[in-house]
Amino acid sequence: MENIPIFDPSEEIKKVARIKSMDEYWSLVEEAKKDYEGFWDRLAKEKIDWIKPYSKVLDDSNAPFYKWFIGGKLNVTVQCIDRHLQKRKNKAAIIWEGEPGDKRVITYLELYYEVNRFANLLKNRFGIKKGDRVVIYMPMIPEAAFAMLACARIGAIHSVVFGGFSAEALRDRIVDAQAKLVITADGAYRRGKPYLLKPVVDVALSKDCESVESVLVIRRNNEDISWHEGRDYDYNELIKNESGHCEPEIMDSEDPLFLLYTSGSTGKPKGVQHSQAGYILWAQLTMEWVFDIKEEDTYWCTADVGWITGHTYIVYGPLAAGATTMMYEGVPVYPDAGRWWRMIDEYKVNQFYTAPTAIRLLHKMGEDEPEKYDLRSLRILGTVGEPINPDAWMWYFNKVGGGKCPIVDTWWQTETGGHMISPLPGATPIKPGSATFPLPGIFAEIIDTEGNKKEPNEKGYLCITKPWPSMIRTIWNDPDRFVKSYFGTCKKDGKPVYFSGDGAIYDEDGYIWITGRMDDVINISGHRLGTAEIEAAIGHHPRVAECAVVGKPHEIKGESVFAFVVLKDDEGIADEVELTKEINEVITKDIGPLAKADEVAFVPGLPKTRSGKIMRRILRAIAKGEEIKQDTSTLEDPSVVEKIIQIVQK
Ligand code: WTA
Repeated sequence: MENIPIFDPSEEIKKVARIKSMDEYWSLVEEAKKDYEGFWDRLAKEKIDWIKPYSKVLDDSNAPFYKWFIGGKLNVTVQCIDRHLQKRKNKAAIIWEGEPGDKRVITYLELYYEVNRFANLLKNRFGIKKGDRVVIYMPMIPEAAFAMLACARIGAIHSVVFGGFSAEALRDRIVDAQAKLVITADGAYRRGKPYLLKPVVDVALSKDCESVESVLVIRRNNEDISWHEGRDYDYNELIKNESGHCEPEIMDSEDPLFLLYTSGSTGKPKGVQHSQAGYILWAQLTMEWVFDIKEEDTYWCTADVGWITGHTYIVYGPLAAGATTMMYEGVPVYPDAGRWWRMIDEYKVNQFYTAPTAIRLLHKMGEDEPEKYDLRSLRILGTVGEPINPDAWMWYFNKVGGGKCPIVDTWWQTETGGHMISPLPGATPIKPGSATFPLPGIFAEIIDTEGNKKEPNEKGYLCITKPWPSMIRTIWNDPDRFVKSYFGTCKKDGKPVYFSGDGAIYDEDGYIWITGRMDDVINISGHRLGTAEIEAAIGHHPRVAECAVVGKPHEIKGESVFAFVVLKDDEGIADEVELTKEINEVITKDIGPLAKADEVAFVPGLPKTRSGKIMRRILRAIAKGEEIKQDTSTLEDPSVVEKIIQIVQK
């Protein structure tokens, strides 16, 4: 960790920031340390418009099933929309740009009507009630946000499935959640071309989805799609008849707000369940602390609503904060690598939040491209999803931010609901590549499995040692897995604590550096995938006997998929290219193109211990072309390692 530069926040940023110095930061940290519940009590009272106040801040009697703000009643859409109508009815809530260049601006008052009409449609036409699950499989159009908020309005639990997932992946999620309704669009635009989503829904629903009664289709690109009479409904027609007022359902603090499926190290994706009050409190607070959002700001997060970043930092957080949130439909490089910079210039964006993979891509495709635009409106830059390499960081800082915008490198997860470790733009001196310090109230610590704090430069388990309001409540339908996955690895003072799955280290100044996943989860372009899921997909190819998947460092994507495949037959590998293609086809069919393997090696066997465990560490080293440091003599068949190396090197 030598020769790492440090950048202090500029006086200009400090002047306007909510938290203006490290002293202010430490005093908030202290406040939370001294009186943990009092700290959250103060914030929950200040920030949330309660319909009925809570009687108790935290209930830890059934840990790790923590409950927050017991007995409180609220509706998240009131927090995001209704309460802004007094002061902000004509303010832009959402500014949207389609990839072809079409534009929409939706004010808070318009958002109120859109969401209420949508909510009425769900209730009246489809009989959706509080607690029902609704799957949303949508492109990046404003209706995706309307749909989420409409569910929240009536207390239905939404489960957004990323539009890049395949029919099989969509089906798994529909079945697990037992969804009653699927909301989708005919299609959208990407890379200059229309693509279709509705046909994917048709395939998903072709079996095992008895719970689904109807499909609501939003028209985006008016492409030809097939129609199932009695099941499919045309949103654009039906919505006209609905009233623009819908009473918000009165929700308990702990009622589920949404499910979002994410990958773990084993088995199928898990439905991460979030709550109402704790989630919205933290979504709003982090918008204020980390993005220092101001009344006149135009804020843009480039994530997809199918991921947690899209949930918290395109929809719920910005709207709860009364901000203007931008949404863009397409890819960053259409028609060229200047698209995003042009949009920042045109809309005078103040906060820009994206992923390292996009930064690396845009850096590579257009090093000087940002200079062609006026990016002086930018005040704060953000990154999320994976560790950012200093090279990409410096380019982002200098070329995009003009050397004057702090970069908030935000570490968090689907399970945490919102930012956990991040610089505060007006306070924290930043180091390229470090997420710096935990936010006030968040007890993120790097420890060993017994809870001892690690010394500087010693890698340890990144844990959160106290519960926090926006934390995952459970895994849908699988509370045991919830306990095992997150509270089964580390303890502190003898009590199980939340382990994130990530490793991390402190440097000499106490800065936190995330080193990446410690489990079998890989991170491709910021998309979290379990190696087990990809292996299960590959296993569906009729000729595959067994396989193992590892992540390999990749210049743009962060990691790429490297698959080691053992074939069943002795037909030989007549056509490796053809077989690789077929394997990628099964991956695309089961999961989606995002999980495709960059490299496939056909090998005679896998390195296994005598008890049959695949030694992925050896495979990881081989994929990277590194020397094998482990003792291979204890393997079931040590000679297999040499054979694999030869195949991979060839
Ligand atoms: C990784 C995304 C380094 C990490 C919000 C985590 C990061 C996983 C960072 C969660 C960061 C996220 N620096 N690594 N700033 N942010 N990660 O659930 O491995 O899609 O566990 O949530 O992304 O991915 P998820």
